[in-house]
Amino acid sequence: MENILKELKKELADINDEQALNEIRTKYLGKKGSITLLSSKIKDLPNEEKKEFGANLNKIKTEATNLIDSKKAKIEKDILDKKLESESIDISLPSTKVPMGSPNIAGKVVEEIEELLMSMGYDVVDGPEIEKDEYNFEMLNVPKGHPARDSQDTFYVEGEELLLRSQTSPVQIRTMLEGKGEKPIRIICPGKTYRRDNDDATHSHQFMQIEGLLIDKNVSLSDLKGTFDVIAKHLFGEDCETRFRPSYYPFTEPSVEMDITCHSCQGKGCPICKNTGWITISGAGMVHSDVLKNCGYDPKEWQGFAFGFGAERIAMVKYGIDDIRVFYTNDLREMKNFDRKDD
Ligand code: DAH
Repeated sequence: MENILKELKKELADINDEQALNEIRTKYLGKKGSITLLSSKIKDLPNEEKKEFGANLNKIKTEATNLIDSKKAKIEKDILDKKLESESIDISLPSTKVPMGSPNIAGKVVEEIEELLMSMGYDVVDGPEIEKDEYNFEMLNVPKGHPARDSQDTFYVEGEELLLRSQTSPVQIRTMLEGKGEKPIRIICPGKTYRRDNDDATHSHQFMQIEGLLIDKNVSLSDLKGTFDVIAKHLFGEDCETRFRPSYYPFTEPSVEMDITCHSCQGKGCPICKNTGWITISGAGMVHSDVLKNCGYDPKEWQGFAFGFGAERIAMVKYGIDDIRVFYTNDLREMKNFDRKDD
């Protein structure tokens, strides 16, 4: 028995992997293992020796089991140590830079205007981008052949009746038709618009407008001026001044262009505002009585104002961007310039 144990110890010392250890376990303690086989010898022994032999055999069995188990633990520890060593992290190395995204700035302008106007009781509504000619033009006082159609060169989808909306103004029609000539309205509608323009620094075949419409009783142009003033100051700061210039839109009467003092030179005059000190950021006006009538509102009882902002235009003025294509070409180097600029 002593020799078997010695031999086992020697064999264990020479190995270092689990498979060899399993073979040794079978060789000594398996069904036909040398230690197991010893127990079959008990029956041949004289009775007085049986007890001692049995006790010794048990001792040897336990010792052999312990030796093999502790070798197993050692092998496992070695494997783990090796693994940990190879996977160890050098905390002195410089970290990997994770590129951070930032909100699209035109989208941010839309959100800012939405939040402000919602706080003033406006609802944000949606409209389809594929629109009826009737809503995009006809009911807005722009019949076929009207010269105003020329400035909004349109993508037609099907014949002459379905088009990609060239402005968000058709949402005015949709909302007023829903109001059935009875309900006051306060909505804004931000959304994509499309025109057959050649893309350049100031034109894009797809761009973003924010339409506003208020219909109620006793509404006047001064309400529009006040609302525009609040929006402009919210977007460009308390120092920003506003002015109206007479203009023409078929769906408003009177119509105005809404200007702000140039953000870049604070009204002193610079190349951006062509030395006027003013920048136009929106078209607007009092809803034309024909448009009110087209939608079932009696112009003697109801009045309203409407405005249309260009979201990219505002973002360009606000962030000093001189090319509208920046918003659509996904050039990360450009977008990086605006990373969390005013977060
Ligand atoms: N729809 C006009 C455009 O795309 C902008 C506009 C002007 C909208 C006056 C309005 C408005 O609601 O009253 O040029």
